[in-house]
Amino acid sequence: MADRHDVAVLVGSLRRDSLSGRVAHALGVLAPPRLSLRVVPIGELALYSQDYDAAPPAPYVAFRDAIRAAAGVLFVTPEYNRSIPGGLKNALDVGSRPYGHSVFNGKPAAIVSQAPGAIGGFGANHVLRQSLAYLNMPVMQQPEAYLSHSDKLVDAAGNVTNDTTRDFLAGFMEAFAALIDRYAGRPGG
Ligand SMILES: Cc1cc2nc3c(=O)[nH]c(=O)nc-3n(C[C@H](O)[C@H](O)[C@H](O)COP(=O)(O)O)c2cc1C
Repeated sequence: MADRHDVAVLVGSLRRDSLSGRVAHALGVLAPPRLSLRVVPIGELALYSQDYDAAPPAPYVAFRDAIRAAAGVLFVTPEYNRSIPGGLKNALDVGSRPYGHSVFNGKPAAIVSQAPGAIGGFGANHVLRQSLAYLNMPVMQQPEAYLSHSDKLVDAAGNVTNDTTRDFLAGFMEAFAALIDRYAGRPGG
């Protein structure tokens, strides 16, 4: 039997009732039982400054510990102005430092972008891939997940509203579990 894995979920939106949060909840329900998903909050992270490298604030320490303990990182994010929200970029910066001690190094990752609009956060999804390449995270290539019209796909309780999306998201999480299996036990994994 495959090992169980803890997955850190980084939600790119900070607002209450976020569609990204709903999608993250749905992914937790649909994931295979050997994955345990936990949202790691990013809203309390002060804007990154190298001055904090020597004396990190408590939320930095908690965030870095949570990522370090996870076998993989799942990003669920909206698109802000054709890029990723600043809070999510800040979380990447916080986790990447001090230099040489990035908690993201080698962690398998998967990205789900969502938008109520038609493009499904494609821009954010690929901007994020650029940073994850630099952070040396093996990012799941297929399937890709750009959830357009997301306000119609997941209800307020985080339930997926149609079978096609439910099957797609379940398959997405199964593929991510297989990627994590491959990297488990390696440095960073
Ligand atoms: C600052 C800001 C910028 C946005 N830029 C985009 C964008 O570039 N593309 C897009 O499809 N939607 C954009 N939107 C709309 C978001 O997709 C929509 O608000 C979405 O619900 C945000 O995700 P959330 O529900 O998880 O907070 C933007 C929203 C905000 C607040």
